[in-house]
Amino acid sequence: MELTGVQKTLSPVLKAKALDNRLPVPILGDALAEQTMRRLDPDYDKGRFSTNQLGLSAVVRAKAHDDWARTFLADRPEAVVLHLGCGLDARVYRIDPPATVDWYDLDYPPVIELRQQLLPNREHYILIGSSVTDLTWLEPIPRGRPVLVIAEGLVPYLIEADLRRLLTRVVDTFPAGQIQLDTVSVSAWRTSKWDPLARRYNARFHCGFDDPAVLADWHPRLHYVDEAPMNDSPELMTRAPTGTRRLYRVMNVLPGFRHSSRIVRFRF
Ligand SMILES: C[S@@+](CC[C@H](N)C(=O)[O-])C[C@H]1O[C@@H](n2cnc3c(N)ncnc32)[C@H](O)[C@@H]1O
Repeated sequence: MELTGVQKTLSPVLKAKALDNRLPVPILGDALAEQTMRRLDPDYDKGRFSTNQLGLSAVVRAKAHDDWARTFLADRPEAVVLHLGCGLDARVYRIDPPATVDWYDLDYPPVIELRQQLLPNREHYILIGSSVTDLTWLEPIPRGRPVLVIAEGLVPYLIEADLRRLLTRVVDTFPAGQIQLDTVSVSAWRTSKWDPLARRYNARFHCGFDDPAVLADWHPRLHYVDEAPMNDSPELMTRAPTGTRRLYRVMNVLPGFRHSSRIVRFRF
């Protein structure tokens, strides 16, 4: 099945993870991303600028989500994981949770079909082909256990009302949990209609937050915990190739760029 619109945005993120794996000391080190990218597009690294590492901040983001997820699952091995807008990300294989964890990967049906072709299966791992905004997908998920919600690169593509319904429903459904997601700033959201990549994929952003901690106000049981660095992360500044590092250093002088994306964690 052909990917359309926002579904195609999974490819640049996967490519960034594939290229990271070729660094002398990778940030994420995801060999499966490299294999999957090759199968998705055997020529992905053949063009003139196709191996630049400008997408490394997305890899930093993936590593931050992995680190938070590992810490949560170490304390809550009985948890249910809801990995929303999973694309072709290999998080479940990187984290390799114990059999006590039930892990759900959700994305649109054509993406899930592609995952089935390109990535291996495993026990206690369930794929859901649905829009995240049609909340009927939540009905068969086991309740009464802590939940870990991971939404990497997803939230900006949702309208705020749908995001709010999703977050409040999750908090109302589970006894306790952690929600980790990333957002874009209001200006990144507003200018996304001119962003060449967004235009190429016909995938504009639909929401943005200058201070994503305010999402905790949507439910009395939801609390903001903290933020992980992205565009100015120490890992990016030490492991990226010199040219990429320089470019990020220059761009980060602009606060609008440095905080254009934020990775945040909430608990309830
Ligand atoms: C930028 S990609 C990120 C993919 C993956 N999380 C990663 O980081 O590699 C965004 C993903 O969100 C998915 N997505 C966007 N809107 C969605 C929705 N309403 N329901 C389910 N998936 C959605 C897209 O299909 C795509 O796979």
